[in-house]
Amino acid sequence: ARVRHYKFNVVQKNFTRLCSTKSIVTVNGKFPGPTLYAREGDNVVVKVVNHAQYNVTIHWHGIRQLLTAWYDGPAYITQCPIQPGQSFVYNFTIAGQRGTLLWHGHINWLRATVHGAIVILPKLGVPYPFPTPDKEAVVVLAEWWKLDTEAVINEALKSGLAPNVSDAHTINGHLGPVSGCSSARDGFTLQVDSGKTYLLRLINAALNEDLFFKIAGHRMTVVEVDASYVKPFTTDTLLITPGQTTNVLLSADQGAGRYLVTASPFVDSPLVAVDNRTGTATVQYANAVFPAALTAAAIPPQNSTPVASSFTDSLRSLNSKQYPAYVPAVVDHSLLFTVGLGVNPCPSCVNGSRVVADMNNVTFTMPTTALLQAHYFNFSGVFTEDFPGQPLIPFNYTGSGPSNPGTMNGTRLYRLPYNASVQLVLQDTGIIGPESHPVHLHGYNFFVVGRGSGNYDPTTSPSKFNLVDPVERNTMAVPGGGWIAIRFRADNPGVWFLHCHFEVHTTWGLKMAFVVDDGNGPNESLPPPPKDLPAC
Ligand code: C2O
Repeated sequence: ARVRHYKFNVVQKNFTRLCSTKSIVTVNGKFPGPTLYAREGDNVVVKVVNHAQYNVTIHWHGIRQLLTAWYDGPAYITQCPIQPGQSFVYNFTIAGQRGTLLWHGHINWLRATVHGAIVILPKLGVPYPFPTPDKEAVVVLAEWWKLDTEAVINEALKSGLAPNVSDAHTINGHLGPVSGCSSARDGFTLQVDSGKTYLLRLINAALNEDLFFKIAGHRMTVVEVDASYVKPFTTDTLLITPGQTTNVLLSADQGAGRYLVTASPFVDSPLVAVDNRTGTATVQYANAVFPAALTAAAIPPQNSTPVASSFTDSLRSLNSKQYPAYVPAVVDHSLLFTVGLGVNPCPSCVNGSRVVADMNNVTFTMPTTALLQAHYFNFSGVFTEDFPGQPLIPFNYTGSGPSNPGTMNGTRLYRLPYNASVQLVLQDTGIIGPESHPVHLHGYNFFVVGRGSGNYDPTTSPSKFNLVDPVERNTMAVPGGGWIAIRFRADNPGVWFLHCHFEVHTTWGLKMAFVVDDGNGPNESLPPPPKDLPAC
């Protein structure tokens, strides 16, 4: 194992997309930001220096941070922001994980432009559990706003209404060859040689969009999600929610030519209008005769729930001898959280009300001190520990109402004893309307043991759970009008954020945090904070 040093200079820089130029916050002047490379077992040290006019934190999305909660990064959860002119050194070891993850800004909406890939290679001399690819490429999917994203969300919070949707989708920072205002040169092109195999490391860094991903004329073999190996399967359409990552093998086995790559929205809700924003890129065979025509693929309609479900249901842990799936078989903490939207009074807002979101009827209030510090040093008055383990108001989650859309506010946490074996059912309320929520848990991977539509039924649903080879991940969509059941072992002390990875829903309050106690044995307690941890 080695130590990998990185320097992240947070700087504002002008970028031109859709024929207009704006200043965005970047790492090292890049959009998307630099790729962080490491091998399993390496120690990663990243010095973040904030030269921008905004507060910043960086989250290493999907990195377990075992006993290093101080470096997890969500603002006001594990740390106070790095203010303009300040710096902070993140320092963590990557253990028991290999594959693709992402890092991103974790304060307000900075993630829109502050994000990049984390590539974790297996230990030296350890091969992939699939045929070795000839080449690898990182493919980052994201969104672009013509306006400043901080202004977009601040305006929405003032009005109480939904924020603007983005103006375009991007692939590796570009809109690609099929776009009103860019040329073919403008797009990302993957050059391939006939007969060779490529490992694509796909990342959905979009703020608010689940995405379908396709390569015209080609099928892809899925081998890994969220830095966990899966049983390989072949598909022509992938589904990736914000925060998720997917590794696929692509064989350059078609006629030498040019093929369109698309990232298009999947909207698991009847509430949202038709959306034609599609990010594009090109796969180009080196031996294609110039100028080769661009072969396009049919883009799945945004409401293609069967396409999305069939992809999701195909995911299984590899669960091999070398990479076993340790699914908790016995549960000692069984929780049910509802996830959904609501409406609260707001005298100063346009309609006298504002859209909110909640878990178990609680709209989370962001504290002004980092929760992890408050927990570690026993500060009182920062949070309460009365987050309900079951919904406070019983209702038919998928019915069309009448349900109370109001929520209560609070910085409520749920305490878990060290090593608790947790089952968490996440149920969409559908109170405003059914809608998918890609929920992300910090500090852990979890197994998705069950998933269904309608209401979770504690007597019949568990009989269909997969406890043998369920997919292991860190972000998973609760289907619109449906539920998922996840299991994990609380073996990582600290304060761990759980939230919808649609940034708009997080902003509206669809978030909570677990406090996980220290254990009694050696290496079961959180060490004290680093000296340079920013102060609030
Ligand atoms: Cu990728 Cu809390 O986020």
